[in-house]
Amino acid sequence: MTVYIMKRFVLWASVGLSLLAACAPSKGEFDAENALKYCDRQVHRTLSELRTAEGVLDYTLMPRNIMDSLNVWHCRKVDKTEWCSGFWPGILWYDYEFMGDAKLKEEAAKYTESLEFLSHMPAYDHDLGFLVFCSYGNAYRLTHEEKYKQVILDTADSLATLFNPRVGTILSWPREVPTFGGHNTIMDNLINLEMLFWAAKNGNKPYLKEIAVSHADKTMANQFRPDYTSYHVAVYDTLTGDFVRGCTHQGYADESMWARGQAWGVYGYTVAYRETGDHRYLDFVQQVADAFLKDLPEDGVPYWDYNDPRIPNAPRDASAAAVVASALLELSTYLPGEKGEGYRKEAVRMLASLSSDAYACGNRKPAFLMHSTGHHPAGSEIDASIIYADYYYIEALLRLKRLNEGRNVLE
Ligand code: GLY
Repeated sequence: MTVYIMKRFVLWASVGLSLLAACAPSKGEFDAENALKYCDRQVHRTLSELRTAEGVLDYTLMPRNIMDSLNVWHCRKVDKTEWCSGFWPGILWYDYEFMGDAKLKEEAAKYTESLEFLSHMPAYDHDLGFLVFCSYGNAYRLTHEEKYKQVILDTADSLATLFNPRVGTILSWPREVPTFGGHNTIMDNLINLEMLFWAAKNGNKPYLKEIAVSHADKTMANQFRPDYTSYHVAVYDTLTGDFVRGCTHQGYADESMWARGQAWGVYGYTVAYRETGDHRYLDFVQQVADAFLKDLPEDGVPYWDYNDPRIPNAPRDASAAAVVASALLELSTYLPGEKGEGYRKEAVRMLASLSSDAYACGNRKPAFLMHSTGHHPAGSEIDASIIYADYYYIEALLRLKRLNEGRNVLE
């Protein structure tokens, strides 16, 4: 009898231990929870740095970057021309999601609300999805407050005004039509489709899904080369809708692969598959992801452009790794078996690398990450901390934490 009781005890103890092990990373495994605690510390450092001596925050001033030689945030005022203003509120929402701290929620809400003006003005360009879905999208996901929903729906309608039915895509930069000689669509624009899919579903606006699908299809047909590497910009004839040429704006050359452009492709087609269930997107996104993963440096963080002849002495782009890590974690859930498992491993490899001393700011700066590249040809934000790298990093960490806990990756 005693032996039986002992055996039961050992059995239950080992079940208990293995349940614990399912949640806690084992030795040598990447610890998402620990990395999220690091993000929370950096968020608090940033908030206290942004406060005036009187302890006041200006909610219209958003952290944008920290150049390599500096250690304080350079902030930009919210404005229709500032495409990065949604990331800081989004980071605050993610940190609130992790910490459950009511004070963080309050700050996230106040920063978010300073972007409300975007929902009732003519669209300046395609970045409305970045601006409003990273901020208001997360606000609604976490609170379900109606006031957030309406802003997203109105902004989605505004974004839709840039759709040209002759071309079948959204015009990314109206102001650049003379420069490119026609309707221009950039890879980054794929990210803005998520807000259209959401609004179609949540606002009974089916035409927004049609626009998103048309944009994804045209981009798939015209903006990738036969080896699935992407052009940053596709130029179309505004009147006939014909594809004119592929070229670059932020990459090394027209025929090169700009790392973040490809990263937007991986993220964008993962969302397109999620929202449509169309297997063409699932097949395609694997090719786009594989082109990104092929030729990655050992540490999983790409050079800013895969064809910069200065490699291995070219700057890296940590933001591209963060975007792809987040996308691959979602994509891995749509692909049972080895392929999905492989993508999950790649994402964890990137996150582990980004969390190491080589990329994480630690005490050196209040951002999460160093070594991103913004606009290399313009000589801007090279080898810097940039707010969108931090946004996709914390998003990816939360996705990994959910997966480790057996939850839905997107909850
Ligand atoms: N949307 C601009 C960029 O990715 O830099």
